[in-house]
Amino acid sequence: MRDNAKVWLNGNLVPWAEATVPLMSHGFARGSAVFDVFGVHKGPDGLYAFRMDEHLKRLKSSTDALEMELSQTTDEIIAAVRETVAANKIERGLVKIMVYWAEESIIQLVLDTPLDMAVFVMPENEVLKFDQMDEHISACLSKWRKIHPETVPVGAKACSNYLNGYMARRDANNRGFNVGVLLDTDGYLAEGSTEAVFIVKEGVLKISPLKRVLSSISRMSILEAAPILGIPVSIKPILPEELFEADEMFTAHTGTKVHPVSRFEDRAFQAPGPVTRQLINCFEKVLQFQDDRFSHWYQPL
Ligand SMILES: Cc1ncc(COP(=O)(O)O)c(C=O)c1O
Repeated sequence: MRDNAKVWLNGNLVPWAEATVPLMSHGFARGSAVFDVFGVHKGPDGLYAFRMDEHLKRLKSSTDALEMELSQTTDEIIAAVRETVAANKIERGLVKIMVYWAEESIIQLVLDTPLDMAVFVMPENEVLKFDQMDEHISACLSKWRKIHPETVPVGAKACSNYLNGYMARRDANNRGFNVGVLLDTDGYLAEGSTEAVFIVKEGVLKISPLKRVLSSISRMSILEAAPILGIPVSIKPILPEELFEADEMFTAHTGTKVHPVSRFEDRAFQAPGPVTRQLINCFEKVLQFQDDRFSHWYQPL
């Protein structure tokens, strides 16, 4: 809980402590909640959201995939984000939008009532640090496999999908690593618990195709930036051997954008390696509003 923080809840700003659901709510007890997260940055002439358009498109496609219907239009959600950011007076931080059924559901599995929505904003602070791209992490091959897209829509940012990520992160932490890299059920690279996983081999940036992973907005941004930076890209299924033979490895997610991996199992990497460094430099400029080629990534708040 954050003292004095305000949460936008179904149209009203309420104290953080009051933004709750009953234990028997469908969102909690059935795990139906969906969310999205994006960054707020201070630009030269005000506050901007990083790729809010893409994050809100993904929120809509997440709910569509789960046959849930948002109660708000995109413009209404943007207005709610602006109101929450202003009420909390943050200048840099994260916005987290939660969509869920607060309605209690004891045995009923499928609900058709309107969805609830909450908008949280979290300022950067000593504990919650963003965009720390110069810090590197260790990764291991998870003993868990990424859930198969024929079991649940893995492209949806659904809270219940995170049990899979939780198990992988737990396993990695138990083994002394920061993150666990999951293979899919056919044995190809999928992603990390909460991050896309890229490798670099002989100067080529490699990532596995979508369909079996979350459509990461950081991944999308990196794949847009790479050709502009002259970095060749390969989007093909990746075997575990390629992870061990890679020249560079990094993860990508909203919190840190590009995060160099210095160790994968017993393999050490230069972190960041040259291609990762090129991408970090690019993102650093973008985050300082110094690269007009990517100005469309920001929307004013
Ligand atoms: C499973 C999973 N994959 C990838 C990502 C990275 O996505 P994004 O770049 O949109 O943060 C996340 C982010 O939380 C995630 O949870």
